[in-house]
Amino acid sequence: MKRINVGLVGFGTVGTGVVRVLKENSRIIRDRLGCEVVLKRIADRDIERDRGVDVPGEILTTSVDDVIDDPEISIVVELIGGTTAARDIILKAFERGKHVVTANKALLSTHGREIFQSAAEKGLGIGFEASVGGGIPIIKALREGLAANRVRSIYGIINGTANYILTRMTNEGGRFEEVLKDAQARGYAEADPTYDVEGIDTAHKLAILIDLAYGTYISLDDIYTEGITRITGIDVAFAREFGYKIKLLAIAKCEDGLVEARVHPTMIPLSHPLSPVDGVFNAVHIDGDVVGPVMFYGQGAGMMPTASAVVADVIDMSRDIMKSTGSRIPPLNCTKDAVRDIRIKRIEDIEVPYYLRFSAMDRPGVLSRISGVLGTHNISISSVIQKGRRKGGAVPLVIITHNASERELRSAVEEIEKLDVVVDRTMYIRIEETGGGTA
Ligand code: NDP
Ligand code: HSE
Repeated sequence: MKRINVGLVGFGTVGTGVVRVLKENSRIIRDRLGCEVVLKRIADRDIERDRGVDVPGEILTTSVDDVIDDPEISIVVELIGGTTAARDIILKAFERGKHVVTANKALLSTHGREIFQSAAEKGLGIGFEASVGGGIPIIKALREGLAANRVRSIYGIINGTANYILTRMTNEGGRFEEVLKDAQARGYAEADPTYDVEGIDTAHKLAILIDLAYGTYISLDDIYTEGITRITGIDVAFAREFGYKIKLLAIAKCEDGLVEARVHPTMIPLSHPLSPVDGVFNAVHIDGDVVGPVMFYGQGAGMMPTASAVVADVIDMSRDIMKSTGSRIPPLNCTKDAVRDIRIKRIEDIEVPYYLRFSAMDRPGVLSRISGVLGTHNISISSVIQKGRRKGGAVPLVIITHNASERELRSAVEEIEKLDVVVDRTMYIRIEETGGGTA
């Protein structure tokens, strides 16, 4: 039986999962492929650490070159993360005629053009299913299942760590720092967890989805990015009171040739299809002009779900190798000539409803001063709650607006914060009432 040799670089959380799947599911993989997938070498900086899975000592190496220079290895799996060494490894692997599988969204969202072009020029495959949505086959869905559609919108919960934190804050009143530590211990978080909580990892993944949906290479600077670090238990509780949940959403919407590309904490109604997506689960809701709304759901991070996506790419690539067809699907989901720049709608130009939480003095006339400023900026109020009484002190005053322009909203907040009755920074959270897409 034919053998296809694979080399792994990075024996960390996901790398360990990949080794386990290749071992534990070797029979089913062989039956599906009609060939043997053999893990020939594993490179990592530390080859002494017990990874909880048995591998023959002789396949372990601290030298990445032992993997990429091995002429018998056809597929290199890059799972070290980061954008420097990983980029070099992938480009060198292509130079040596090897196909590559990676889960590295940070790399693809910054150097995607160079990597995809290098793969295409050499007729080699680049698999990146695990880069977005962990175990959810969203890359395959966009490039293949939805290939007949113009994508009208994408709404995604695509960071497991942030969703885990927000869920535990919502359900148990968990404290941000403690829940983040727990997510790290479970292997969900990035090496630098600020990527997770500041929305950067979500922006990396949204960039990949936008590239595939619109046949472009979007710059990360064009994605408005805001994380969840300012969200407090008070906002989570108010959200519930108004019938909303707070989620870190990745949003791409294409209207009249302009694309909105943004990542930020968002209040969504409890009836929204993304509202029940909790914990480490991710979901991506896509509205296509032909298919209408579709939604993909599954575990977005962690050892085994991510390994499922990585090994699926290895299997896909092995099929191409067996048939000697080269990669059937262009990495960006369109031909080289069809790649184009897109026009981005700036965040200041969006119009959505807002949740505003002011820290206002508990005094008669305060509400009318705040609402007066909102009125001069053409922002109309949908509901107001003031909780508690603190004569002579500050209390949270929460306002939900109707659709308002972000530009006006920011000016109004700046003006309101200068009032002597407002004592702290104002919290504002954008609301998406629909976005679930209707047929
Ligand atoms: P880990 O940090 O757990 O694993 C990375 C491993 O690679 C570590 O053992 C690390 O060693 C090693 N390494 C780093 N640099 C080098 C190098 N230059 N040469 C050799 N070995 C090196 O990361 P994950 O497994 O969590 O993530 C891997 C990739 O998968 C990343 O791109 C990540 O974004 C992506 N990903 C992760 C998911 C998850 O749930 N964890 C889900 C989806 C994607 P050391 O520890 O000494 O640095
Ligand atoms: N840190 C990422 C997350 C890993 O929490 O979603 C999966 O890409």
